[in-house]
Amino acid sequence: MKNIILVGFMGTGKTAVGRVLAKRLGLRFVDMDDIIEEREGMKISEIFDKKGEGYFRHAESKVARDIALQSGLVVAAGGGAVIDEENVRNLKSNGIMFCLVATPETIFGRTKGHSHRPLLNVSDPKEKIAELMAKRAEYYARADYRVDTGNLSVDGVAERIMELIK
Ligand code: S3P
Repeated sequence: MKNIILVGFMGTGKTAVGRVLAKRLGLRFVDMDDIIEEREGMKISEIFDKKGEGYFRHAESKVARDIALQSGLVVAAGGGAVIDEENVRNLKSNGIMFCLVATPETIFGRTKGHSHRPLLNVSDPKEKIAELMAKRAEYYARADYRVDTGNLSVDGVAERIMELIK
């Protein structure tokens, strides 16, 4: 079975949905950020701090290449993984890509209580979300399917994806 790849902006629910989906389909769940943290022995925010975003993106691309060699995974990609064309090519080479979508307001509401996302640890996260979302829209559009998460629960999003892959 092909991998199921969940992409989308930070706070769209990739990890929560991925876990539910994997359980319901009897597949293994992996989170790209978790793999990077494990390999580097550091939290994502620490990697950004100590080694810089470029280093993180490099590690992320390596994970994308490794995932392309495996099957039957449900993968939560990092929010910025799709910016690199080669990552998209690798992840899609053996996977169906779903982009989870939410409005900037919803994203802000879901992410504001958390400090583990270095890109949103800025003085005006609302503005940053709007700016990054606009910049990234064309990259997220590369997914095979788009799933609006706005009015759906985590289970609801998982069900929608299950309908799409039937
Ligand atoms: C990032 C999203 C994060 C993480 C890193 C960079 C991004 O993942 O990979 O902080 O560039 O959008 P989540 O989307 O899982 O928060």
